Parts: sequence; structure tokens; C-alpha cells
Amino acid sequence: MTIKRCLVIALSLAGCTSLEPGEVDPVQTTEAALNSATPPNPAATNIGVPTAGLPAQFHLPNNVPLRDPLGAATTFSVAGSIDMQGPFFKELGTNQRTCATCHVIDQGWTISPAATQRMFNASRGTAPIFRTVDGSNSPNADVSTVRDRRAAFSMLLSRGTIRVGIGIPEGADFELTAVDDPYGFASAAELSLFRRPLPATNLEFVSTVMWDGRISGDTLEAALATQANAATQGHAQRATPLDPAVAGEIVGFEKGLFTAQTFDREVGRLDIDGGHGDAENLASQAIVAARWDLFDAYQNSPDSKYAAIYRGQELFNTRRRTNDKGPCQGCHSQSNVGTNVNGSFFNIGTSDGARREADQPLYTLTELSTGNVLQTTDPGRALITGKFADVGRFKPPSLRGLGARSPYFHGGSARTLADVVAFYSEALEFGFTDEEAADLQAFLAAL
Ligand code: HEC
Ligand code: HEC
Repeated sequence: MTIKRCLVIALSLAGCTSLEPGEVDPVQTTEAALNSATPPNPAATNIGVPTAGLPAQFHLPNNVPLRDPLGAATTFSVAGSIDMQGPFFKELGTNQRTCATCHVIDQGWTISPAATQRMFNASRGTAPIFRTVDGSNSPNADVSTVRDRRAAFSMLLSRGTIRVGIGIPEGADFELTAVDDPYGFASAAELSLFRRPLPATNLEFVSTVMWDGRISGDTLEAALATQANAATQGHAQRATPLDPAVAGEIVGFEKGLFTAQTFDREVGRLDIDGGHGDAENLASQAIVAARWDLFDAYQNSPDSKYAAIYRGQELFNTRRRTNDKGPCQGCHSQSNVGTNVNGSFFNIGTSDGARREADQPLYTLTELSTGNVLQTTDPGRALITGKFADVGRFKPPSLRGLGARSPYFHGGSARTLADVVAFYSEALEFGFTDEEAADLQAFLAAL
């Protein structure tokens, strides 16, 4: 006999899930595991200090559904469980931050503005994420009072973005000819670029590291180790390089993580009746540029909501644009993930000057050889290559676990998945009908 148990209470899901008698309720496990995920002894969170005394539940079991605004996501680790005692969760620097300050398990391993606002209110703007090194709109911002701090960290509070500082590289074929920074800091020596933390999961499928691919290495592991060190010396303000063994441990941890949506608030489970919308399945996904096939089994589903997800998947795979350019999958080529297998960067117009919002800095760039001028809120790849042709180019990120990590695009300019679809419909000339937009949105929500 199967007992019908509604997830609606704990997970705010519209659907119900079936549990066999005696089966552990995943929602209960979630709450218990997360409740225990507060270090009982803050002093024990420095590297080198034994973490004895932490509860055994500090290993979060694999595949525990964690609530998000669109349902629930799960994370699967090849290690068998998620070790929340490792260096990823430790203070390795000098400002109380850990990797998990900005890469949070139940926010798709990035951080949501809802969470930064909660933390601000609870700590009056003093929690570790609120540091002027890169949390504030300007490193020189006045943070004396709560009111000052609310203003100083407004980008982190409204968009969940961190200030990445990068200068115009030497030998660039363009120059910075004007700066309009509402926060009075940016210059050619250091532009302020407000960017969302990328998910520290599904890294197996990443071919370039960071939005602009600025960190490279002989292997992905080497690049990620360089990244872990840079993050510790930068975000966490550590004076000396990380012990390579610790960096290696961080890379081993994060590279073994796979995250996917798994439960859809509107639809139900995404891994039933032949569907493959779960994190564990992702761990065996081949690295290959190919059509997405997660939801092939839902093609003839009698449930119209599952059928819509399938139709969305097929639009993603094949629907060309009104200008006859390629489909979503052409750029988001890695099957069932969405990174670009060739490591290519694309300009989809997200940082175009014309789309600048009042809270963003605006940069005017002039190409030296032609005098051509561009305005942008973030030059992206161009600050790494020094090439005017690369202005506005970013890497396509993984598209799994989207439900847990709004807002979208590097600068958090799309607040919802509907905004993403509307953006593509107009900016990239997809020209979706209302039905197509709804199907595509159902598919994205199920990733
Ligand atoms: C203060 C917030 C913050 C902290 C702390 C932080 N990160 Fe990040 N992380 C970011 C941001 C922002 C980006 C994207 C920056 C960019 O692309 O320019 C990022 C990007 C990454 C990426 C790149 C993923 C990809 O797809 O390219 C990895 C991996 C990563 N972080 C791991 C870590 C690790 C490991 C630590 C701890 C050592 C850490 N981060 C600490 C904010 C943070
Ligand atoms: C020309 C290449 C290209 C095409 C075509 C394309 N994308 Fe993207 N996509 C990108 C790039 C590059 C980014 C990152 C841009 C940024 O953040 O500024 C991105 C970002 C996204 C994001 C945001 C992810 C996040 O974590 O913030 C979503 C969602 C997305 N794309 C979905 C789609 C869908 C759906 C389609 C088809 C309608 C599509 N993309 C077509 C290149 C492309």
C-alpha cells in the first residue's frame, strides 16, 4: 500500500509525492539536516583546528530535496554524501567568510538576494558577506551605520551581485574614454563589475572558469585550484596562498557535486515515468554537444504539465530564430547541462549600454584603430583578451538548478525565468508565441 504524502506543507509544493510505508520522508530529513548545519562551535571553523564535536549529520545525505521558489532541488556528491565539514565551509581567510558565504547549497550553490536581505536584517549588515572588499558598491563606501550599510551594499541586497574589480589590460586595442559610476569608484585601473556568483556545482561540465573565462590551467582541476586560491586571497582576504593540499580538497569536493531541480512546484517529481530530472542522473551524463533528452519520456504524457516540459525541451533543442540563427542548444551545447562544450563566449546583449539600469555603472570604450565607440555595463571577455571584438561576451553557464538561483544573467538583470524567455524573444529575435514562451519556461523551471 502506498501512502500519499503532500509535500505542500514543508516544501510549499502544489503536488503530492508517494512514499512507501516506512520510507524516510525527504522533507523531514532536509529540515533536520539543515537545522544542524550551524557550527556549534565557531572557533572550530578555522583550518587546522580539529572539527571534533560536530554532529554526524554534518554530512548531508545525497539527494535530499532542498526547497526553492520553484519547488525543490537536490545535490548528489560522488563522495556518497555532502561533507559540510570540509575546507569549502571553513574560514580560510581573515574576514570570517567561507566559500559557502556566497555559494549556498540551497540556493543552487550561489546566493539569492532574498538571502542577502535576510542576513542583512538579522545582522544589521555585519554578516561576513557584508565586507567592503567586494560586497559593497565601492570599496571606499561608508559603512559606519546601519543606514550607511544598507546603501553601501545595495547591489548585493537587490541583485545578489559581488563587485569584481578588473582593469583595462595592457596592450588592449581599446581604451576607456568615459566612466559613469553611480558609486564614484571605477576607473581604467579597476572597473567595477557587478556579477552573480556562478554555481559551485556541476563543474564537471565547465570548460572555462568564471563568467569571462579569466582563470585557466592545464586541466580543469588546475584551473579550479587556482580559482580556489584566488577566491580565498580575494573574497576572504587571506594574506598567504592556500596550502595546495587544501585547494585540492576544495576542488575534489566541488567537482564531485551535481545539482538539479528534481521537484517542480507546479508539476511534481521530475524523475518519474522515465524522466531524468534529478541530480544523480546528471553525475553519469557524458560530456558531449548533443540534443537534450532529459524529458523524452514525457512526449506523450497524459498530464499536460509534463507534456509542456517536453515541448519546451524540443523548442530549446531545435527552435530557430526569426533571423534564422540557431536554437538555444547551439550555444548551450552540452547536452542536459547547457555549458558550451567548445568553451566559447557569446555576446547576447545583456551588458549593452542601451540596457543599462540606473544602479549600474556605464563604461564608454573606444577602439583605438577605428575610433568606434561602445557603451557597456560590463565588457566581459574583452577585459581578459584586450580585444574590442570581445566586448559583452560571457560564457553560457550551466542551466541546471535554475529554480534555486534567480536572478539570472551575470548582472542579475532577469528577475524571473519569464524575464529570461522574454529577453531572448526580443533581443535574440526568437519571437516566441505565448504558447512557446510558456512551454520553454516550464522546461527551464524543470532543470
Ligand atoms: C564574496 C562572495 C564569494 C566567495 C566568498 C566565494 N566566491 Fe566563488 N564566485 C563568486 C563570484 C562573484 C563568482 C563569479 C565571478 C566572475 O565570474 O567574475 C564566483 C565564481 C566561482 C567559481 C566559478 C564557477 C564557473 O562556472 O566558472 C567557482 C568554482 C567558485 N566561485 C568557487 C569558490 C570557492 C572554492 C570559494 C572559496 C575558496 C569561493 N568561490 C568563494 C563569489 C564568491
Ligand atoms: C548566442 C548564444 C546563446 C543562445 C542562442 C542562447 N543563450 Fe542562453 N546564455 C548565453 C550566454 C553567453 C549566457 C550568459 C550571459 C550573461 O550572463 O550575460 C546565457 C545565459 C542564459 C541563462 C541564465 C543562466 C544563469 O545562471 O544566469 C538562461 C536561463 C539561458 N541562457 C537560457 C537560454 C534559452 C532558453 C535560450 C533559447 C531561447 C538561450 N539561452 C539561447 C548564450 C546563449
